[in-house]
Amino acid sequence: MSDTDLRGKVAVVTGGATGIGLAASLAFARCGAAVAVNYSRNAEAADAAVKEIGRLGVAALAIRTDVSNDGEVRGMMGRVAKELGGVDFLVNNAGWTKRVQPHSDLEGLTDDVWDRVWAVNVKGAFYCVRAAAPHMRQRGAGSVVNVTSVAAFAGVGSSMAYAASKAALTTLTKSLARALAPTIRVNAVAPGLIPTGFGGWIDVHWKATSAQTPIQRLPTADETGAAIFYLATAGGLTGQTIVVDGGLLTLGPAEGAAGH
Ligand SMILES: NC(=O)c1ccc[n+]([C@@H]2O[C@H](COP(=O)([O-])OP(=O)(O)OC[C@H]3O[C@@H](n4cnc5c(N)ncnc54)[C@H](OP(=O)(O)O)[C@@H]3O)[C@@H](O)[C@H]2O)c1
Repeated sequence: MSDTDLRGKVAVVTGGATGIGLAASLAFARCGAAVAVNYSRNAEAADAAVKEIGRLGVAALAIRTDVSNDGEVRGMMGRVAKELGGVDFLVNNAGWTKRVQPHSDLEGLTDDVWDRVWAVNVKGAFYCVRAAAPHMRQRGAGSVVNVTSVAAFAGVGSSMAYAASKAALTTLTKSLARALAPTIRVNAVAPGLIPTGFGGWIDVHWKATSAQTPIQRLPTADETGAAIFYLATAGGLTGQTIVVDGGLLTLGPAEGAAGH
């Protein structure tokens, strides 16, 4: 077990069975927190995550819930509180996207894409906070971390709608941090390109971005999970975003990189 002792605490991680979400789930579990691993389609990954968490000696629950469905989300939080004892941490990590590129293809950005990206990435995160908040208040404190993206700041990414949805979630992070203070803290982690396969990015993109990145590699899912865990447990912070992208957004391309 790590230095931070979260025994008796409960974390809900949406999309918690794969990639960045799995890394966050394991970070909580390593510190003794019980983890509710939310998923919408990949039951196999959720079962594997629950087994892995169980091997760390803490309780875990796989819960199938589409975060874009308010009724399902309320049911999920109720079930977590009942079966795991409460809700202390929420990581809004579930995300959806569809590549619509180049961004100049405005006709390709159909209503279907807009509606789904908004339903999952923005409304889904809001639904989860709304349903978790009463349970957190019952415990006297709570902490939420939203997973946004550098797309929110740079207008880059798999589609223009995706970038806009992550910008909305960035603003929502601040609005919720104000609205839920002082009992519940709300922060965000904005990953750059992380090699999970999300968004259809593949090794050729990973290599090109690594070369541009000041640290000359991409941050890993584990490093992103560690930043999520830090914000979730760092008592003095609310309304903040930490960018996990190896310095690319803040510093610009590495010296010597093409286009520098
Ligand atoms: N990887 C990157 O380069 C990158 C960069 C910036 C931001 N992000 C953000 O990081 C987060 C995690 O992505 P990742 O890279 O770890 O990719 P990932 O492994 O594909 O994770 C996405 C997760 O979201 C879940 N999900 C999707 N729709 C859902 C829904 N309606 N309800 C519940 N869960 C749903 C998926 O579960 P199911 O498969 O079961 O549906 C999956 O576990 C996303 O919010 C993404 O936007 C990623």
